Amino acid sequence: MTAATPPAVTPSATFTLTLLPGDGIGPEVIAEGLKVLRAIEHKGIATFQVREALFGGAAIDATGSALPDQTLRLCLESDAVLLGAVGGPKWDNPRATVRPEQGLLSLRKQLEVFANLRPVRAWEPLLDATPLKRDIVSGTDLVVVRELTGGLYFGQPRGRREENGTTHVVDTLTYSAPEITRILHVAFRLARERRSKVTSVDKANVLTSSALWRELAIDISKEYPDVTLDHILVDSAAMQLIKTPTRFDVLVMENLFGDILSDEASVLAGSLGMLPSASLGEGTRGIYEPVHGSAPDIAGQSLANPLGTILSLALMLRHSFELEDTARAVETAVEQTLDAGYRTRDIAAADAPFLKTHEMGDEVVRRLVL
Ligand code: IPM
Ligand code: MG
Repeated sequence: MTAATPPAVTPSATFTLTLLPGDGIGPEVIAEGLKVLRAIEHKGIATFQVREALFGGAAIDATGSALPDQTLRLCLESDAVLLGAVGGPKWDNPRATVRPEQGLLSLRKQLEVFANLRPVRAWEPLLDATPLKRDIVSGTDLVVVRELTGGLYFGQPRGRREENGTTHVVDTLTYSAPEITRILHVAFRLARERRSKVTSVDKANVLTSSALWRELAIDISKEYPDVTLDHILVDSAAMQLIKTPTRFDVLVMENLFGDILSDEASVLAGSLGMLPSASLGEGTRGIYEPVHGSAPDIAGQSLANPLGTILSLALMLRHSFELEDTARAVETAVEQTLDAGYRTRDIAAADAPFLKTHEMGDEVVRRLVL
């Protein structure tokens, strides 16, 4: 008789994570993301080595730079970065030489995260939180794939000069074919995992960059015969997004178009506070951040919605740590928290009671089944 073999004990993986709480409501929402992460760790699913670094306005105050070298180094050495938000009135002078937003752009560039994924879904329990008609929004499930390290945000030349007493300014929309190709591939691959439809957003009737974008989209689509491709002009996309959002699956577009349309699309999710994002490069390292920004008007009052951060954490589990089941468990816990009627102020009906930021985080943790 042979002795029964004891079950193999798989040591859980260890991941290194840098937290960049940043400014405004950033620290409040990051605390809730961390709470969920610790709950996952507690179940033995993985170990997370977490360190925190200065970023944005907070970093400008402490060091004079929005992205101190030490912060960049920690991020480069991490498996993932969880970011709160940057910016606020204190650093808002548009002519200031150092601005919090520069830190964010520089971090994206240095980490080479060229693909920004912003999933937007209409949460059934929040259908009445949107200003749009229930019938229009219901069933929405789309992803904005935004090119993140090129286009107008980074193009040269840029600047301001005086000539003969007149002020001139320039920003440049520039892309190389490989920059466009790689983001299109991200969109097509993602569509394959979803409903196999890519909508390429451009302004091909006016911009040469868009004409190339459209040409490359058509070329690349031949490698994905199972995925349907259509094209839409960005102005029309802005309209269709709130008129017939359910027609979209994956939308792919250049940097500034994506910045604008993703804020618009957030209305479909009930609140900007619900929107997560993942910024990915060629490897598995990513930057994960809620889309909402620093919201200085409500900072420090426990009024922020932590769900955008918690859903960003789910994206991190999925894309950087390959913990798909755990990612889904987090998303299910969020859904059940909403189903149970819990709300933060941004998604509560007028005059209805709402939870504080940390109470909402607790409700999600309570529903997390791992
Ligand atoms: C976003 C933000 C940033 C951007 C700002 C803060 C620089 O609006 O992530 O959408 O424009 O990319
Ligand atoms: Mg934006």
